[in-house]
Amino acid sequence: MEPGPQRIIVAITGASGAAYGVRALEALRAAGGWQTHVVVSNAGALNARHELGMSRQDIEALADVAHDNRDIGAAIASGSFLTRGMIVAPCSMKTLASVAHAFSDNLIARAADVVLKERRRLVLVTRETPLNLAHLRNMVAVTEMGGIVFPPVPALYASTTRQEDLIAHSVGRVLDLFGITDTGLVERWTGIGAAAPEPAQAPGAGTGRRGRRR
Ligand SMILES: Cc1cc2nc3c(=O)[nH]c(=O)nc-3n(C[C@H](O)[C@H](O)[C@H](O)COP(=O)(O)O)c2cc1C
Repeated sequence: MEPGPQRIIVAITGASGAAYGVRALEALRAAGGWQTHVVVSNAGALNARHELGMSRQDIEALADVAHDNRDIGAAIASGSFLTRGMIVAPCSMKTLASVAHAFSDNLIARAADVVLKERRRLVLVTRETPLNLAHLRNMVAVTEMGGIVFPPVPALYASTTRQEDLIAHSVGRVLDLFGITDTGLVERWTGIGAAAPEPAQAPGAGTGRRGRRR
């Protein structure tokens, strides 16, 4: 990787859940040390307006660099442009299909294709239910290529029921996959019952108490 901030791509497509992508951009900015590249599809912009009242420009302002989804000549369309990887949040079934079949007719699909071919980290926050066989097969194909399919299933074991906290938890788990683990977004499970042993303790050297969630 080149010196300086590490680069990460965030794409927002037209599935429900624009908040996942927006929250990821906010968390990456808060984490520091990351250069974010955002691409918002037309359907993604439509949904962001509908669900969050945010314009495309509002979202792009959360990133360091914004790309037009039609700009197939953008830096992120080439593997020679170094990035840590890409998050597509939310990821529509249409974009999932494009990625699964390397059908790179827009920048989001091309950037994801590049991330896979360069063996970098790709996380697709897919949102649809129920799933048809094409959706499932496309998820298998992406997984076989090394991508991670991450449906944003709410962590109902968390102590909160607030929508924004559940979204933050899922975003934190996505960022975990890039080694960004100190976001404070994840309510980490430590077991049922009493406090879990501190991680510094040797295996088997616990207090004997049963863990609890926190
Ligand atoms: C309000 C709204 C909600 C949608 N929700 C979903 C969804 O949850 N999952 C999905 O796969 N597609 C959903 N779609 C359909 C996609 O937006 C559509 O397939 C679009 O072509 C995706 O294009 P994109 O992947 O380039 O953004 C929704 C569309 C609208 C207008």
